[in-house]
Amino acid sequence: MRLWGQFRTKISGRTKVCCVIGDPIEHTLSPVIHNAAFEELNLDFVYLAFRVRREELRDAIAGAKSLDIHGLNVTMPHKTAVMEHLDEIDSTSRSIGAVNTILNAGGRLVGYITDGVGAINALKENGVGLEGKKMLLLGAGGAGKAIAFNLAQEVEELKILNRTTQKAKELAEVLRKKFNKKVSGNSLSSELLKNELEEADILVNATSVGMHPDVHQSLVDPSWLRPDLCVMDLIYNPLETKLAKDAKSMGAKVVSGIEMLVYQGAASFEIWTNHPAPVKVMKQAVLNKLSELGTLS
Ligand SMILES: NC(=O)c1ccc[n+]([C@@H]2O[C@H](COP(=O)([O-])OP(=O)(O)OC[C@H]3O[C@@H](n4cnc5c(N)ncnc54)[C@H](OP(=O)(O)O)[C@@H]3O)[C@@H](O)[C@H]2O)c1
Repeated sequence: MRLWGQFRTKISGRTKVCCVIGDPIEHTLSPVIHNAAFEELNLDFVYLAFRVRREELRDAIAGAKSLDIHGLNVTMPHKTAVMEHLDEIDSTSRSIGAVNTILNAGGRLVGYITDGVGAINALKENGVGLEGKKMLLLGAGGAGKAIAFNLAQEVEELKILNRTTQKAKELAEVLRKKFNKKVSGNSLSSELLKNELEEADILVNATSVGMHPDVHQSLVDPSWLRPDLCVMDLIYNPLETKLAKDAKSMGAKVVSGIEMLVYQGAASFEIWTNHPAPVKVMKQAVLNKLSELGTLS
């Protein structure tokens, strides 16, 4: 891999610019992931990060268009608000009500969401088949909703548990009607979680429980986990959550949040460049960065 200094000297008037916008943005790993991928494929692209405050979103999107920014990632708190400023929104994004990727297609800004595809690819690329499987999803927030849309189409049955019961029920109803699949929504009580887990093949944690600084928390008692279960935790800070550690020690297969982060980034990369993403390089770049920051556990 070439050094970043050498890469910078290649920037010219033809270089295509991609970026992520959000607030806060200082800790984003996206520039590391995408610049490594652009370099690997020798693409004349560069990726930057911009802090955009809520009240400046409209101007930022108009500015991106004027400056011919080629692609954008959108993160908190703009994933929903950005939609009204775009020229076109793909159907999955519209159903979910969120956009995390924008392509500037000849001056028309088109919005997509890659979180669900990222989660599915992370599972599949780690050898987890989805067909005929029973999935238990914890959380119906932004990420939970996005991945539920894609997963509902692939698995045999999807059960969603959420602290705010109404959100789980509403999401399940939308998915049932849309895909004609077995989808249910309920409250995230310990008792229900324990019972539903007995039936599940795959458990996905899409809540923020276990995220830094609350690294000793998990919604799942270790004794409920089994070797024939696959567990995916969306959280990547810490790299290995308590749930992931418990699952590993019970012999279950574990897919980390870093996998999803990389695969959702890979999907954005492919939308912008039309090239297959160098996923291994992207993953290694993010692991190197986390190791440098001392975040690797
Ligand atoms: N790996 C990746 O690429 C990736 C991508 C996106 C997100 N994530 C991670 O996924 C997690 C969720 O992100 P998000 O964007 O969906 O956030 P969000 O929209 O704020 O949703 C948070 C979810 O966690 C639930 N929750 C929060 N505190 C809880 C508690 N004490 N007990 C039970 N449930 C609780 C919320 O339930 P209520 O609805 O009841 O509030 C909601 O379902 C975060 O840790 C985020 O870092 C990872």
